[in-house]
Amino acid sequence: MKFITTAIDYPNGKPHIGHAYEKIIADVLTRYERLKGEEAYYLTGVDQHGQKMVKTAEVEGVNVATLTKRNTKRFIKLWEKLDVKYDGWAETTDDRHKTCVQNILTELEAKGSLYKKSYDGFYSVRQEQYLTDRDRNEAGEFGPEWGDVEEREEENWYFKLSEHAEWLKSTVEKDDLKIIPEFRKNEVLNAIERAGETDLCISRPKERMSWGIPLPFDPDFVTYVWFDALINYISFAGYKKPESSDLPDFDTLWPADLQIIGKDILVPAHAIYWPCMLHAMGFEAAKMPTLLVHGFWNIRGDKMSKSLGNIVDPDELADKFGPDTVRYYLCRDIHSGKDSDFDIERLVMIFNTELANDLGNLLNRSINLLKGACASTVASTDTSEEEDIALRESLAKSTAAYRAAMENCEISVALQAINDHVTHCNGYLERSQPWTMKKDESLLPRVGEILSHTAESCAHLAVLLSPILPAAAAKIYGQLSKPGFAELNLDDLKWGLLEAGHLTGKPKPVFPRIQVEKPE
Ligand code: ME8
Ligand code: MG
Repeated sequence: MKFITTAIDYPNGKPHIGHAYEKIIADVLTRYERLKGEEAYYLTGVDQHGQKMVKTAEVEGVNVATLTKRNTKRFIKLWEKLDVKYDGWAETTDDRHKTCVQNILTELEAKGSLYKKSYDGFYSVRQEQYLTDRDRNEAGEFGPEWGDVEEREEENWYFKLSEHAEWLKSTVEKDDLKIIPEFRKNEVLNAIERAGETDLCISRPKERMSWGIPLPFDPDFVTYVWFDALINYISFAGYKKPESSDLPDFDTLWPADLQIIGKDILVPAHAIYWPCMLHAMGFEAAKMPTLLVHGFWNIRGDKMSKSLGNIVDPDELADKFGPDTVRYYLCRDIHSGKDSDFDIERLVMIFNTELANDLGNLLNRSINLLKGACASTVASTDTSEEEDIALRESLAKSTAAYRAAMENCEISVALQAINDHVTHCNGYLERSQPWTMKKDESLLPRVGEILSHTAESCAHLAVLLSPILPAAAAKIYGQLSKPGFAELNLDDLKWGLLEAGHLTGKPKPVFPRIQVEKPE
């Protein structure tokens, strides 16, 4: 069983394209596993506790529980709209999760992994963490990235993080905690040096912040939001669930094959706190998850932020361009863990060239001409023309490249492989000109063979595209009159999916061009 998770989002506002991107790539990779015939489980959700939620509720003048419920709905609705299909939904205010967190805290306390102490220091409200001198900039100040910094003296509960630093170092070095892409691993190893020096504060005094899970052994405190949130990956996977629970079977799922997160929450949360928490609970190195770390979507080089007012709303995009367009663009225009610039003009341009023109035309020409010249009847593609052999080789090459890329979680590279074959097919049609050939009746058998090669290609391409564009793939299967394609496995993709004599369906554009509104 493949277990795929994402970060859980703070529902303190509307979901943005960074959120959408992460949910979509997890959905794509889950669908890809299923296309291979693997069983897969996709868990995602929302991170509902903590000071961020409280602050937003104050600003909006609503009760924090009300805000949480309202905004959580927005996330759920958007995932529905974007065809993001998850198997498990994590909400950290869920009683099943709260119980799990409290049981873990009780066990850790009993084991001596936690202690209480008083601390006087500087606290970043925005980042919800105490700062150390290392967080000061060259001028010796806490920079604007920390937001408001207050001096505070507080008693709190601490987790003995430092006890696990040596173990963590070797676990990361040996890739037992695997970090993809590779270039992120060094960042983690550097950060581990720091983890040996300080323990992790895991509580907040209730009198200051009560929107959290109460510590079971000290009612004056609630659990720090990160300690609570990280546990979602196991609580909703059924860790130590009661007999009567409807949660999945933990041993089938854990460890997570992919925990998909953005680069900002790799260190310290996911690469330091989380594995050390697991280790303290008794998880060995072999039971560590794999972290897939993606880059950020920026806006013309700037970070997206409320204050810059440049947040792209994926909900509006989906309404305007359709979910498949949004899915395609977000998968296509960002590469292996790097940042990318969100650009609406590129979204339109990429859709119009790669989908409307290239793939859309290929499909439409194939089915349309087959209908006009061959009564929609597929011919045998068991031919020995050189250009036919080259086309079949191109498809085999693209399919292999697609698979290799998807195995590496490089969706944009997989799409490139698909597009390479589309380009090959369009060149093949341009060279052979079936639309001219069909005027000569004696050439009709060859016209049938040519169009059957491109129609067959479309069948394969639709299956390969189906994890990324599920709705479009289904439309393509429909026009090829092959509803059973939805059940195909990647290994079933052998030449000859459309057998000779098969009748293709009605041509209808799957990717109508996006008309660009001209500025007045
Ligand atoms: O960090 N581009 O929640 P979050 C791409 N609740 N990804 C982005 C992004 C951008 N511009 N901005 C944010 C949290 N993300 C915690 C996680 S997990 C136990 C708790 C990504 O709503 C970000 O990196 O701030 C993270 O993976 C996810 O969106 C949620 O961010
Ligand atoms: Mg597994």
